[in-house]
Amino acid sequence: MKILVIGSGGREHALCAAIGRSPRASEVVCAPGNGGIAQIARCVPANQKDLGDLLRVVAEELPDLTVVGPELPLSLGLVDEMQRRGLRVFGPTRDAAMLETSKAFAKRFMQRHSIPTANFAVCTSQREAMAALEMFRHPVVIKADGLHAGKGVLICQSRHEAERAVEGLFSGQLLGAAETSVVVEECLTGEEISFLVLSDGKHATPLIPAQDHKRIGEGDTGPNTGGMGVYTSDTMLDAAMSEWILEHIAQRAVNAMALEDTRFVGVLYCGLMMTAKGPMVLEFNARFGDPETQAILPRLESDLVEALEACVEGRLSDTEFRWKPGASVCVVAASQGYPGAYATGEPISGEDDAARVPNVEIYHAGTAVEGGQLRTAGGRVLGVTATGATLRDALDSAYDAMSHISFAGMVYRKDIGWRALRGKQ
Ligand code: AMP
Ligand code: GLY
Repeated sequence: MKILVIGSGGREHALCAAIGRSPRASEVVCAPGNGGIAQIARCVPANQKDLGDLLRVVAEELPDLTVVGPELPLSLGLVDEMQRRGLRVFGPTRDAAMLETSKAFAKRFMQRHSIPTANFAVCTSQREAMAALEMFRHPVVIKADGLHAGKGVLICQSRHEAERAVEGLFSGQLLGAAETSVVVEECLTGEEISFLVLSDGKHATPLIPAQDHKRIGEGDTGPNTGGMGVYTSDTMLDAAMSEWILEHIAQRAVNAMALEDTRFVGVLYCGLMMTAKGPMVLEFNARFGDPETQAILPRLESDLVEALEACVEGRLSDTEFRWKPGASVCVVAASQGYPGAYATGEPISGEDDAARVPNVEIYHAGTAVEGGQLRTAGGRVLGVTATGATLRDALDSAYDAMSHISFAGMVYRKDIGWRALRGKQ
């Protein structure tokens, strides 16, 4: 079977690697891919922001199955268009992806179906938002409605800060374009967990849970990034808690989407805050997480392609998942300056030595090969993933591998998994 993966990051590298391990995959194609993906799949040029260009690639390749990595093609309606052409594709339609692409839709949906989430108000004017601020204590969270790559969420410590955020969003000063809808939300505290499930539209099957580290600095300080590292471990959630989350959040959302005639097929990523009152949803994403996927898939022992096909064909409840016991970690090496401005084109060395460390896989995010030399081509450059019997073992292997890699301005966090290790050393 020929399988096409859409995307160009570390997540897509991990997807291509797991798909390539399946006996069902005879050919893996990635559009557009990156320097690392090119070593394991055939990469074809594509503009991921252009629906017409993606449909051109699909028409040229005629894959047996397409897997959509990032959210933007989902929001453009790639899945809808492919289904109209009779092509098999793993991912939600544009309407189902609104769980991610509209925070106002997601919050109202959760309210309608009693899915636990922070108290909120959806406001469609600055005046309405200012009035809503009266009802919330500080800190308060202000969110732009649409997709903003993590930049649309502002945690405001004071009334003054919150008013500035509201003004900035409605005027367009903060995000470039004026917002027409803003969510004002209660600020939750606790540990964050990424709880991803696969869905065939009826049935939800959980993947192993993961914890992302979104801030650039150690001890979770500094600005938010796309994710600087992630870990998974068998001790992260006990079976009863996993069951509770599955029943009251993930399966309930899948059932409710079907009830509302927007069946959700694909990955439902539940971003949770484990509060003193129990797990609450911070956000839904309609796709695999990045870098969660880089730590989750290396522990999947059963066939990913079989699972993705089962989702597309509506028979996920019959599919068995087997996981390697223990733990895994993905540590991201980024370019100096990220998430702000950074240099590209720096030569990368030591990747081969790093990849030789046992239980390690290196996933490329922002890399390119120019004249036979691997170079940096993005903010997040490489994700070093390791598995192990314990989190400590996985971390030792990942940081050992990382010590071989170097490029000018390389930055990485040395404390991935710190919450889990706290008090255990
Ligand atoms: P979102 O894009 O909605 O996931 O928000 C990005 C990040 O902002 C989350 O991963 C949290 O760290 C933080 N965040 C979002 N909503 C809240 C909330 N209600 N309370 C506390 N932190 C939040
Ligand atoms: N790791 C966060 C995300 O994929 O949205």
